[in-house]
Formats: sequence, structure tokens, C-alpha cells
Amino acid sequence: MGASCATCLAERDFVKEIVMMDIKRGVAEGKALDLRQSAALKRFDTIVHGVTNDYEATADSDVVIITSGSPRKPGMERSELVATNAAIIQEVCKQVTFHSPNAIIVVVSNPLDVLCYCAFKSSGFPSNRVLGMSGMLDVARYKSFIAEALNVSSKDIQALILGGHGKTMVPMPRYTTIGGIPIRNLLSEEKVQEAIRRTQLGGEEIINHLGRSGWYAAGAAVCEMVEAIICDQRRVFTVCAYLDGEYGYSDIYLGVPVILGRHGIERVIELELDADDHERFDVSQQEVRNSLEILKASL
Ligand code: 2OP
Repeated sequence: MGASCATCLAERDFVKEIVMMDIKRGVAEGKALDLRQSAALKRFDTIVHGVTNDYEATADSDVVIITSGSPRKPGMERSELVATNAAIIQEVCKQVTFHSPNAIIVVVSNPLDVLCYCAFKSSGFPSNRVLGMSGMLDVARYKSFIAEALNVSSKDIQALILGGHGKTMVPMPRYTTIGGIPIRNLLSEEKVQEAIRRTQLGGEEIINHLGRSGWYAAGAAVCEMVEAIICDQRRVFTVCAYLDGEYGYSDIYLGVPVILGRHGIERVIELELDADDHERFDVSQQEVRNSLEILKASL
């Protein structure tokens, strides 16, 4: 996943330097070397380094992308990874705050919403500088299923998803349009629900094929977020953000639409929800809160 993020970032050519880091000796060094050697062919100038556990080499990073942690295996729930991965995130954040005190942290590891909270608490950074990549991936999946069902370009689909990065995530057909046309004008309710179900199980579908999570779409999603931050684009994206009363929830990280720019989360956008949306969002919130309790007990 980290290599996929680095590849996408290097090829887009908007950051000056990327430091890839792994705990296994030689892995990041080898991948960085390979990636650098593609520069002349892919036509980018981004400088890429690889290091083993050397946080000094990452000092003063503007953005830190955390993909470390134990990955999910077939049949596993993301929440089963809380204890193992929280310990890893805590250690990583301790190093990041020391070496890059002004960075914006983008968490990618699972269980995403809970590990964002863990990174927020262990870094001590303000919540606008700690966010998670999940909504971007889930929305991209949702768009791909709608594009397939309608046989149209995914570029013309606008959509958003609320809630946690799990089976109870809340794709929002009421806020889904294709070239400005509401989805329900173009697609039957049965097909809309099919796209929603497939999105909610999008991660599992890939794991069932590969025996592990995918990386192309996730890497591209991280890259979009980093571009919005570094280039101060003020894009409106669904990301995992800290809620402090928004949508009626506090002291929790959940997927919501935000404005993303140079300071990280510039603003959380609150939407009008109807009773059904609210109920679905609440189920997802409760699922994340249950895992959060496991985290709090282990902190
Ligand atoms: C996924 O949904 C890895 O959780 C990630 O594919």
C-alpha cells in the first residue's frame, strides 16, 4: 500500500521528495530505487529515498502517510486488528511528532477510524492535522459500481459516503448525481441498493480474490488527498475526520465531507440528514464506538 501511494505521488510530480520507510531491512530501499529508475520513463522529477526504520531521514515532512500495521486476512473483521495496530501507530506517532512536529498525518492502516483516533491522541496534534483515508476509497468504489451499472464514465459521478470504514458505512444516494442528474432518475432502486451493498463489502471482495487487501485504488485515493493538502486546493472530499459535536457526535473519528487544504481539514461540512440517513449513520457510528472502547481499554 505504501509503495502504491509513493508510486502515484512520484508520478504526479507535485511533491519535491518522498521518503519510503519499512521495518524490514532493504524493502523500502529496493522499492525506492526501482521507483526512481522509472523517473526517466514516466517523466517525473520527484526525489525518492528508501530507509529502514530511520525516522531522522523523514524529518520535517509536510505530510506523513501511515500505512504500517498488520493487514487483514480473509474472514477477518477490521476491528480484530485494534490492539496489534494501535501499538504500532502509537510508536510511529511518537517518532513523527518528534521529527516532523508540523506534519499533517494521513492514516491508512485498519481499523481506520479507530486508528485515526489513536494517532490523534498519541500525536497530540490538533485534529485538523490528523485525518484518515477511507472515504475517498469507498467513494471511488461506489462510483465504479454505478459507472458499471449505467455504462457511463465514473468521471461524471459525484457522490459521498458517511460513517465508518466498515460494512455499515453509509453511501448516500440522496447526494449522488451523474452529470448533475440524481441517481434515482437513472437507476432502479434495486440497482442502487446493489451498488451500495457492493461498496460496503468492497474491501472483502478484493481480499476474497487476493487473500489480502488491494492497493491501487487506495494508493490513488491517498495521492488525491496529499495533492489537495500540498497544493492547497480546498477540495471537497469524504475523509475520516474528528467530530466535536458535528452531526451530533463527539470524541470520535468518522467519515464525513470536509474541505481539504494546506492546513489539513479546513472545515467539516454538515449535511441535512433525513430519518433513514440518520439511523444508518448512527448504526455505523455505534460500530466504530464499540471498537473505540477496545482501543481505550488498551491505551
Ligand atoms: C480496503 O477496504 C484496505 O480497508 C482497505 O480495501
